[in-house]
Amino acid sequence: MLAKVHRFDHPLIQHKLTYIRDKNTGTKEFRELVNEVAMLMAYEITRDLPLEPVEIETPVARATSYVLSGRKLGLIPILRAGLGMVDGMLRLIPAAKVGHVGVYRDPKTLEPVEYYVKLPPDTHERDLIVIDPMLATGGSASATLSLLKAKGARSIKLMCLIAAPEGIAKIEKNHPDVDIYVAAVDERLNEHGYIVPGLGDAGDRLFGTK
Ligand code: PRP
Ligand code: URA
Repeated sequence: MLAKVHRFDHPLIQHKLTYIRDKNTGTKEFRELVNEVAMLMAYEITRDLPLEPVEIETPVARATSYVLSGRKLGLIPILRAGLGMVDGMLRLIPAAKVGHVGVYRDPKTLEPVEYYVKLPPDTHERDLIVIDPMLATGGSASATLSLLKAKGARSIKLMCLIAAPEGIAKIEKNHPDVDIYVAAVDERLNEHGYIVPGLGDAGDRLFGTK
């Protein structure tokens, strides 16, 4: 069984992604756009949430209507850049709990280095969405997924703005049970492990650190 890759082709997502990619977009606008796209992607990624019927009374009549059922959600941003997508997602799913995983990519080896983990105690009972704008070599996301599974998580989706084929291949190999949700799949990685054409360094653009 291979992980499925779902590409969100909604025109609003694609339009906003263009301005996110543009090198002339400044920090403030970049941050706003990333949150807006994250909110739109949250709408799409929650399409398959189960519903259950409830009986209610409207001012006019009794009615059967529907509410969310099943397991609760958990958002797992990969620090730093994943933080840029949290607020947008919480606007649609405000009851979700948020766990933080700090992983950075060693600039020389491109290998993931874990430096911080803080998860809600019931993380393993939740349906988790791991969020990070960039899936490049896939090292950071793959390490995060392994860490969550080691803590008992069984239901995980991975949501990224832009993925490289190399990152997708790594998740398919290491985590075939995890579906990947993206706004775009780009051409390739360059010799520094950056996605081409990509958007540059997501953390630096979000936080103005370069
Ligand atoms: C970026 C990005 C991902 C990672 C992707 O983080 O936010 O977490 O790189 O690359 P990979 O798929 O090759 O692992 P970075 O390491 O730059 O850390 P930062 O978010 O703290 O800047
Ligand atoms: N991390 C980023 O922020 N951008 C890339 O293109 C690759 C990894």
